[in-house]
Amino acid sequence: MVFYCLLPLWLILPATVLAGMTKTGTLCTVTPSGSKDDSPSIMDAFKQCGQNGQIDITSGDYTIAKVMDVLTLKNCDISIRGKLTWNDDIQYWLRNSVGVTYASRSTAFRLGGENFTLKGHGEALFFGNGQKWYDQNRDQSNQNGRPISLTLWKAKNVWIDGITWRQPQFWHTFVAHSQNITMTNLDMNATSNSRWGTVNTDGFDSWNSKDIVIKNWVVTCGDDCISIKGNSSNIHVRNVTCYESGAMCIGSMGNPTNVPEYVDDVLFEDITAIHSSNAAWIKTYPGQGHVRNITFRNIRFQDVNQPIYVSPCIYSYSNCDGSRLKISDVTWENISGTSRYNVAAGIYCSKGAPCTGLKFKNIDIKPKNGGTAKILCSNMNSDSGLACTGTCPAGWKQQLSGNA
Ligand SMILES: *[C@@H]1O[C@H](CO)[C@@H](O)[C@H](O)[C@H]1NC(C)=O
Ligand SMILES: *[C@@H]1O[C@H](CO)[C@@H](O)[C@H](O)[C@H]1NC(C)=O
Ligand SMILES: *[C@@H]1O[C@H](CO)[C@@H](O)[C@H](O)[C@H]1NC(C)=O
Ligand SMILES: *[C@@H]1O[C@H](CO)[C@@H](O)[C@H](O)[C@H]1NC(C)=O
Ligand SMILES: *[C@@H]1O[C@H](CO)[C@@H](O)[C@H](O)[C@H]1NC(C)=O
Ligand SMILES: *[C@@H]1O[C@H](CO)[C@@H](O)[C@H](O)[C@H]1NC(C)=O
Ligand SMILES: *[C@@H]1O[C@H](CO)[C@@H](O)[C@H](O)[C@H]1NC(C)=O
Repeated sequence: MVFYCLLPLWLILPATVLAGMTKTGTLCTVTPSGSKDDSPSIMDAFKQCGQNGQIDITSGDYTIAKVMDVLTLKNCDISIRGKLTWNDDIQYWLRNSVGVTYASRSTAFRLGGENFTLKGHGEALFFGNGQKWYDQNRDQSNQNGRPISLTLWKAKNVWIDGITWRQPQFWHTFVAHSQNITMTNLDMNATSNSRWGTVNTDGFDSWNSKDIVIKNWVVTCGDDCISIKGNSSNIHVRNVTCYESGAMCIGSMGNPTNVPEYVDDVLFEDITAIHSSNAAWIKTYPGQGHVRNITFRNIRFQDVNQPIYVSPCIYSYSNCDGSRLKISDVTWENISGTSRYNVAAGIYCSKGAPCTGLKFKNIDIKPKNGGTAKILCSNMNSDSGLACTGTCPAGWKQQLSGNA
C-alpha cells in the first residue's frame, strides 16, 4: 500500500485520535487525547458551554492532571461516558487541590452554579488512583491536601446520576453550601489491596446544605458511607447498600466546639449495611447546636460492630457531659440484623444536654455468634420504647474489639 504513504498523516488517522473539544451551537463535545492531560479540553468545554449549553464528554480514556474548578455553571447538561483517571502526581495534588473550608479539606474537582445536571449513564467512571494515596498515607487520619474526588460548592438545583467511582483519592463526594441536590444511581468502591487502609474514603458528606436526595447507591468505602455533617437539613437517603463502612451517620459535628452546628430533618430508609462499623448512628464533639428530627427506618445489616451508637464526645471520648449539642426527636424503626459482638446499642447522651424524644420501634438485633445483645443507655428519655439492659459508660467507644 505505497499509495497511503503519500497521503498526509492526518488523512489516515482515524477521527477518534484527534484530541480536544469541538463546539457546535451550544454543544461542546470532548474527545480524549490518548495520553496527554485532558483537563484543558474539559475546562474549555465548561468555559464555552457551561452556561445555557450542553457538554458531552464522549467515551474513551481521559487523563486528569490538573484541578478542575468551575463555579459558574448555569442551565447546563453535562454528559459523561468516558473513564476519567486522576493522575498519581501526589505532590501536585497536595499543593494544588482547592480548599473547601471544612476541616482543612480540599478537592480535585469542584462544581458550582445553578440548574445543571451531571449524567454518567452508568458508563462514566471516575478513577482516582487511590491505591497510591492509601499507600503514602500509611493509615494517618486526615492528610491535608488529599483531595476529595467531587465537590458540589454553592450549587443549586443539581441532578447527578449514573456515575461509578473506583479507588478515589479521598472522600468520594462532598456537598457544601448547596441546595436542592439529587444524586441517584451512584456506585462507589474504595478498597485497598495493600497493608495500608483506605482511610477517609467516605461515600458522601454534606455541610451547610439543604434539600438533598440520595437514592440507589452501592458503596464500599472503609469509612462513613453517608455522613450528614453540620448545618444540613431536609435530607432523604433511600435504598443505599454499604459494605465495609460506617453506613448511615449524623456527624461528626460540633467541632470547633464554640461554633454552633445544626442538623435537622433527615430520613434514612431502606438501607443495607454489610460488615460495617455501625449502622444507624450519631457522633458529635462536645460542642453546641442540635440534632433534631432524624429517622432511621428499615435498616438491615449483617455483622456490624456496634449497630446503634450515639456519642457526644467522639474520638476524644472526654468531656462527654460538657456537650451542649442537644440530640432530640430521633426515631429508629425496623432496625434488624446481626451485631459482631454482644452489643446492639451504645447510647450515651451528655448530662449537660440529655437526649429527648428518642423513639425505638421493632428493633431486632442478634449477636452473630448467638446469645442476646446488650442495649446500653444513659441520659436519655425513659419513654423511648427501648429495652435498655444497662447503663452506657461515658466515653463509650464507637468500635468494640470484643464482647462487653
Ligand atoms: C433555574 O431554574 C429555575 C426553575 O426553572 C428558574 O426559576 C431560575 O431562574 C433558573 N436559574 C437560572 C440562573 O437560570
Ligand atoms: C430542584 O432541582 C431539580 C433538578 O434536580 C429541578 O428539576 C427542580 O425544579 C428544582 N426544584 C426547585 C424548587 O427549584
Ligand atoms: C469492591 O472492590 C473490591 C476489590 O476489587 C472487591 O473485592 C469487592 O467485591 C468490591 N465490592 C463490591 C460491592 O462490588
Ligand atoms: C436500589 O438500588 C439498586 C442499586 O442502584 C438498584 O439496582 C435497585 O433497583 C434499587 N431498588 C429500588 C427498589 O429502586
Ligand atoms: C452553622 O450555622 C450557624 C447558624 O447559622 C452559624 O452560626 C455557624 O457558624 C454555622 N457553622 C458552620 C460550621 O458553618
Ligand atoms: C422531619 O423530617 C422529615 C424528613 O426530612 C420531614 O419530612 C418532616 O416534615 C420533618 N418533621 C418536622 C416536624 O419538621
Ligand atoms: C416496618 O417493617 C414492617 C414489616 O416488614 C412493615 O410492615 C412496616 O411497613 C415497616 N415500617 C415502616 C415505617 O416502613
